[in-house]
Amino acid sequence: MLIRHKHKSDIPASEITPEGVYLRRREFMAAAGGAALMASAPSLAALSDAAAEDSSRPAWMRKAVAARGDGAPDATDATTPYTDAIRYNNFYEFGTAKDDPAANADSLRPHPWTVTVDGEVGRPGDYALEDILKPHPLEERIYRFRCVEAWSMVVPWVGFPLGDLLRRFEPTSKARYVRFETLADPEQMPGLKNPFTGIDWPYTEGLRLDEAMHPLTLMVVGMYGRTLPNQNGAPLRLMVPWKYGFKSIKSIVRISLMSEQPSTTWNDLAPGEYGFYANVNPAVDHPRWSQARERRLPTSLFNPNWRDTLMFNGYQEQVAGLYKGMDLRRFY
Ligand code: MTE
Repeated sequence: MLIRHKHKSDIPASEITPEGVYLRRREFMAAAGGAALMASAPSLAALSDAAAEDSSRPAWMRKAVAARGDGAPDATDATTPYTDAIRYNNFYEFGTAKDDPAANADSLRPHPWTVTVDGEVGRPGDYALEDILKPHPLEERIYRFRCVEAWSMVVPWVGFPLGDLLRRFEPTSKARYVRFETLADPEQMPGLKNPFTGIDWPYTEGLRLDEAMHPLTLMVVGMYGRTLPNQNGAPLRLMVPWKYGFKSIKSIVRISLMSEQPSTTWNDLAPGEYGFYANVNPAVDHPRWSQARERRLPTSLFNPNWRDTLMFNGYQEQVAGLYKGMDLRRFY
């Protein structure tokens, strides 16, 4: 399981942190020197000033990641380099090529941001992002991330359990599903003007309520110790590590609790190819390609870096119980 724990592990921090951040963290620790007296030393103040200048690493984010200590996951997967995770993206609102989101997502304005919560809840409303986040301690979790297109990454996300958020809005006894919706603003999102995607915007996704409440399901606000880059779904996205990546909807503006299963973008577009459940399953192929293996990024022509895909993306022990008695070939 790839959850970052506080206890010690044998994976060096250099493998789970982009090199620059890691080196700065080491410098910081060296400056701190293990002595509280050093806390006011000029070198330390200078360092934190330099970090404060980096708007992708605000003080609250640094605090969240530092609070995790240098623990590491109990798995041997090496983390995907930051540069791959922010340059090889799917975010059709900014174009359909893998490098389009990085090139075009500057136009997204993630602040201020409002999330509408409605449907089967006791406390519906329009909530400012700050109010959504305020009560939740952030944590870093390193998850395998498997796209339905048969590539994968290992990413250190920063976020908090979705279940903790949903409970605050007091789901009614009728709530059985959660629907999520992405912003759809053609002024900020040039991909919405492309008539060839066939997508009926906004991009929507959904989970069964028990999947949404599962402790592995995260609301994500950062990655690699930084706030989310726009192309990765700033300022708020979902991460469901045992499901194909298309379930992990980006730039969320609406969360609705529902009594019926919601329609979802890819399932609507091609129901024979993309199911509502979309659990990673090497035994159930996509109609046009095998799901038995995956290319772990970074890859190259000479090293496609193939590896076997794991049932539920390796989270079987934690989540298989959610699907007891279900025919996973039918409910793909
Ligand atoms: N969310 C929105 N709104 N639009 C998208 O096109 N693509 C999905 C998912 N979330 C997508 C989205 C797909 S197919 C994948 S694999 C992941 O985002 C990719 O996330 P990443 O770019 O951070 O790796």
